[in-house]
Amino acid sequence: MTEHSVPAADSSAASDLVKQLFTSEEARADPYPLYRALRETAPVHRAEGGRVFLTRYADCAALTRNPALLAQSESWMDKASPGWRQHPAVVQNIETILFKDPPEHSRLRRLVNRSFTPRRVALMREDIGRLVDRALDRLADEAADGTAVNAYALLAETLPIAVVGTLIGIPEQDWKVLHDPVSEVMQVVEVGVGQDKLARADDGARQLNAYFEDLIAQRRREPRADIISDLIATADAAGDPGQGGSGMTETELLRMIILLFGAGVDTTVGLLSNGLLAFLDHPEQADLLRADPSLAEGAVSEVLRYDSPTHVIVRIAGDGAEVGGEPVPQWSTVFALTGAAHRDPEQFPDPDVFDITREGTSVLSFSGGAHYCVGAPLARLEAELFFPALLSRFPRLALAGPPVRRGFVVRGYEDLPVTVS
Ligand code: HEM
Repeated sequence: MTEHSVPAADSSAASDLVKQLFTSEEARADPYPLYRALRETAPVHRAEGGRVFLTRYADCAALTRNPALLAQSESWMDKASPGWRQHPAVVQNIETILFKDPPEHSRLRRLVNRSFTPRRVALMREDIGRLVDRALDRLADEAADGTAVNAYALLAETLPIAVVGTLIGIPEQDWKVLHDPVSEVMQVVEVGVGQDKLARADDGARQLNAYFEDLIAQRRREPRADIISDLIATADAAGDPGQGGSGMTETELLRMIILLFGAGVDTTVGLLSNGLLAFLDHPEQADLLRADPSLAEGAVSEVLRYDSPTHVIVRIAGDGAEVGGEPVPQWSTVFALTGAAHRDPEQFPDPDVFDITREGTSVLSFSGGAHYCVGAPLARLEAELFFPALLSRFPRLALAGPPVRRGFVVRGYEDLPVTVS
């Protein structure tokens, strides 16, 4: 036992459930029965190695707003995972806003909020509508003559990357070549990343660093109407933080732009494809949305609740932290299993029912509190435009084989085979 660990107080049954959740293929396909069992066995489960798992909605929601719980910061990584700085992909993630606490977090968040405004997202509506149509044209082409198409791969190539690329200001000809590296770099946050994946992610990070350093230099010379140019201008105007200003260093700017790009791709592909599968499994709900597209906003919340693209939020316990009403030792790693929280009957009646007319659904897919997702309004808008368009254009959309899942922190697919005629 290390000096940072919590004594295991719960049954071995709960530990066994967690192990299955992280390792079994069955759990990857359908984690929800295990989540329920864990919540019923030990809703605040203290496992070996100073890890604490939360499965109740109220506890997970409270975690996001608890000032005694900290991000997995650089100083924590130095204790928990010395050597992390040798991996450019880990550095890219850990040096972003996601893994910072105040005052650095507040400074960076203020800057990004000034560029990534609700107005800017609303102005994207027409562009997104056009990009949705283009992605659906591609699906129609590839699925012509009854051919089965991997809808996950198709969406990954066509839609969220195009939306986020347009918004940030990445030239269209570069989207395709940047997709794999950015996806690999973001997968470093997954559970059980092996050496092979890490090496690929490190190569990806080197490629992204070189690409974006160059793009930032271009935009500094010739600003355009895009987020990169805005962030540069906002950060420069706020002054060098090394000289007492409240702007960004060059490295912070680079990390921020790569994060904006990376955080918005696989997560949103997950939202669109999890929803696509939920509608195929519940044709009566698809009919409801087809008949009344004004249900789209609620439908997106229900997709996020029923099968969220993100399943966990992690925090590190500071001195005197409490979770689920119990004190936890400093340096414990606390996991809010948000996929479990979304099926908590105390919060959502009949939680296993997919019902797009459910009201007041407040999801944790985008976290909450200070780290609440910057891109949530963009991802929601994209999904609100996508689902009605998909269902009305392809009334005979059908599964062409069993879906194969991948990922735990961000839930996606190896294969989601569909036909459209
Ligand atoms: C369905 C799509 C998305 C999901 C489920 C999602 C989920 C999340 C979650 C869970 C967090 C916070 C993690 C934590 O509290 O530790 C987060 C933060 C963040 N997201 Fe998203 N995200 C999505 C789309 C996007 C998009 C489209 C963008 C940008 C274009 C974006 C940019 C960010 C950024 C910059 C942060 C860091 C915020 C901070 O730490 O203050 N996300 N996202």
